[in-house]
Parts: sequence; structure tokens; C-alpha cells
Amino acid sequence: MTIDKKSLINWVGGKRLLRKTIEPLIPTDIKSYIEPFGGGGWILFYKQRWADLEIYNDLDGRLVNLFRIVKYHPNAFKEEYKYLLGSREMFLQYLNAKPFTDIQRAVQFYFLITRSFGGRGETFGTVKKSCGGASKSQRNVLDKIDAIHQRLDKVMIENRDFEKLINQYDFEGAFFYCDPPYSKGCGYAVTSTADFDHERLRDTLKNIKGRFLLSYDDSPKIRELYKGFEMVEVERLNGINNREGTNRENKIFKELLIANYPIKEIFNNGR
Ligand SMILES: C[S@@+](CC[C@H](N)C(=O)[O-])C[C@H]1O[C@@H](n2cnc3c(N)ncnc32)[C@H](O)[C@@H]1O
Repeated sequence: MTIDKKSLINWVGGKRLLRKTIEPLIPTDIKSYIEPFGGGGWILFYKQRWADLEIYNDLDGRLVNLFRIVKYHPNAFKEEYKYLLGSREMFLQYLNAKPFTDIQRAVQFYFLITRSFGGRGETFGTVKKSCGGASKSQRNVLDKIDAIHQRLDKVMIENRDFEKLINQYDFEGAFFYCDPPYSKGCGYAVTSTADFDHERLRDTLKNIKGRFLLSYDDSPKIRELYKGFEMVEVERLNGINNREGTNRENKIFKELLIANYPIKEIFNNGR
């Protein structure tokens, strides 16, 4: 079963809406493809293979455990998952459950993320119109597990801080797609928005031997940090987790794509 270019989960800050824009900007002559901020892996899973060596990394051990279990124990995962219901009662039970095994932990995390509002794993997700939230098909999930299991076959999965990871895997043929927490907006379990050190990331990327492509929110701070690098502006509809205050209207959200190799020309020609 081949992957349908989709991830297993909707993750806060996930690049589902930007994957078609980002794909042509990723060079094809790379020897390794590395995502230091893997999250839901929307760019990784957009293609059947980016390079001979591929690495998924995230500091959040729950994500890493989920992808490791799907990679190494897909049948055990499916066996645990297949009797779960899209029910509010079960969601609340799982929210407070203390799983014993890594397989149970992966199933609990996956269940809470996919059945919750905005993929945050906190409140039970309901929908009025489309087929999201609790109405999601259980059978599709089981098929998806098989597809992601196959896609991860040769992908290395790491659970490190970005700086150690980038320094460890850097060389002339390396390519890093970096999608760090935004400078403004929601934080993550592993780093709040206030705590993430954007200067440390810039200093790490500044002198690498390989190439990087970075996606960020468009803010004066980020423009200043990456002055001198190639930069293009992109627009997308705002995701649910980035809306500020009570304004729930869809609005345009501006992002920057930044690279240490030429991207402007490819981007402008592709538009
Ligand atoms: C914007 S999300 C990545 C979304 C991903 N590109 C996708 O398409 O789903 C940022 C990720 O960075 C991770 N993260 C935060 N601080 C980190 C750190 N110091 N090192 C590695 N990962 C980190 C978070 O856990 C989160 O999953």
C-alpha cells in the first residue's frame, strides 16, 4: 500500500496546507533528508522518498513513540486500536488513563489527538458539518497505519533537541527541512512559545555545511534574525490553532520560507 501524501495526524503547526508549495523548493540532489522538528511529518510523508537517508526527529517523546510503534509494531497497534469508539466517554477515560506499554501509550496518544478539537488532545472534538472529529472512519485509520508503516521502513526516528541533531547529521550532502515553533502563537508540550530559543536555531543553522529550508511565521523578529538569507513570503488560510482571541473567521496567515540556497527563482517561476 503506498502512502496518499498525508500524515497520520493533524498536528498543531503542521504543514498540510503548505506541502505543495514547499515540495518544489526542496533540492533533488540531496544525500540525506532530515526533519529536526518532525511533528506530524506532513512534508516527509508528502513524498514516497526524499533521499537515501531520511531522519524524522522531534523532542516530544509521545510523537516519537507513536511513529516508532507504527514502524515496528503496526499489527499490535491496530489490534489495540480497532475496538476504540468515537465516543465522548471513551475520550474522557483515555484522557486520564495510565497506559502500561509503549504500544498502549501510542494508541492513547493517537486516539486523543485524532478525536480532539484542533488535534490538541485536550477536549473531545465534535463537528456540525464535515466528517471530522468523532465521526472519523475507524477503517480508514487501520489502512493508514499500514501505509505509514511502509513509508517509515527506512526512516530513522530520533528524539533529540534540534541543535544536537543538526550538528550530528550535518555534511555537504545533507538537507534539513526545519519547521520550528513559530515566534508568535501556540506552544508545544516540549517548549512553550516564550521558551523556544530562536537565536539558538539561527546560530545552529548559520554555519552548517548542508542546505536548509526553514518555515516560520512572518514577523519582524524572524526577518531580522535571517537577514541575508534567501526569503520568500507565502500565504495560507489560517489554521484553527493560530487564530487569535475570539476571531474564528478564516483569515490569511503569512509565512516565510527561508533558505541558505537559491529558492526565490524556483518559487517565482512556479507561481
Ligand atoms: C511546527 S511543529 C512541526 C510540524 C510539522 N512540520 C508537521 O508538518 O506536522 C514544531 C515541532 O517542534 C517540536 N519541538 C519543539 N522544540 C523542539 C526542540 N528543541 N527540538 C526538537 N523539536 C522541538 C515540537 O514538539 C513540534 O512537534
